[in-house]
Amino acid sequence: MNCGLKDAWKHTFRVGTAVGGAVLEHKEADEIITRHFSSITPENTLKFGPIHPEENRWDWKEMDSIAGYARQKGVVLRGHTLVWHNQTPSWLFRSGSGDEPVSKNQLFKRLEDHIAALTERYNDVVYAWDVLNEVIDVEKGDNGFRLSSWYKIGGREIYEFAFKCMRQASPTAKLFYNDYNIEEGEKMEATVRFLSELLDSGIPVQGVGIQGHWYYNFPPEETLRTSIERYSALGLDVEFTEVDISAYEFNDRRDKADYYTSIPEQILRQQAQRYKELFLIAANYPAVKNITIWGIADNHTWLDNFPVAGRKNWPLLFDETYQAKEVVSTLIETGLNLSD
Ligand code: GLA
Repeated sequence: MNCGLKDAWKHTFRVGTAVGGAVLEHKEADEIITRHFSSITPENTLKFGPIHPEENRWDWKEMDSIAGYARQKGVVLRGHTLVWHNQTPSWLFRSGSGDEPVSKNQLFKRLEDHIAALTERYNDVVYAWDVLNEVIDVEKGDNGFRLSSWYKIGGREIYEFAFKCMRQASPTAKLFYNDYNIEEGEKMEATVRFLSELLDSGIPVQGVGIQGHWYYNFPPEETLRTSIERYSALGLDVEFTEVDISAYEFNDRRDKADYYTSIPEQILRQQAQRYKELFLIAANYPAVKNITIWGIADNHTWLDNFPVAGRKNWPLLFDETYQAKEVVSTLIETGLNLSD
């Protein structure tokens, strides 16, 4: 069958993948993207630190090549990400070359300049921006907000400013709030509250990105349904932006001697079931516009080093040799049957 994931599901949502610049040079990766994916998220390249390492220095090379690839293939990009507490350059929060913290005004200005440069270069291919990433922290935060340098210096206003500024610089892209563990519990409630408040104050937020770093026996179907319903009730688009299904439960810190050496059959089946449920449930909700898998094949996944460094994992749809797992043809058939 020549039909790929993106065509099998095109009547419902886009199917995307995350890539690093080097990945695109692999023939197998290129073939998989060409056949299966209609959206690409730069895994690290577009983050503040990698692309803007010094105040007056930009590192455009890798991002230009990803954007060029997207244009050539006719796929769209998710712009990931602007305001995040990780992978930010040290100059950003310092004033000049000194050790003094940057002033609030200066931080706003730096963010504005950063947005202007990125949008000027990539507006034509970026259809959605993760304007904020992971700013909510219901455990250790202040009023529910993570105590990052962004927040300590810019306060909540910088979050609102980021959306407004991005709206001006990129009038047509969809603007997203993106985070993990926001599909249930207190963190979902805090996120719904935050997004409703933004909407009530006229802040141009249009979507919520549920990252989806899950595992073989999580999440249950009900969790997926409820979260989509809660966010779409606000009038927001919902995207699953960083899906990978780990072979280990998050809190599994077994002894090294017991690490799997390959993915056990039983886990592989459960993983396939999680993927299938996700696609099927998402297809019931018009608000869901994209499911992005956080990588192409199991030879390159951040889960090899998280939450346990050096523990091999197999969370993606293609195996370590770029062969499609069985779930890929299941997903294609399921999507095609639904479109009949
Ligand atoms: C978070 C970020 C992603 C990525 C993952 C780990 O989810 O949003 O960009 O860094 O962590 O790969």
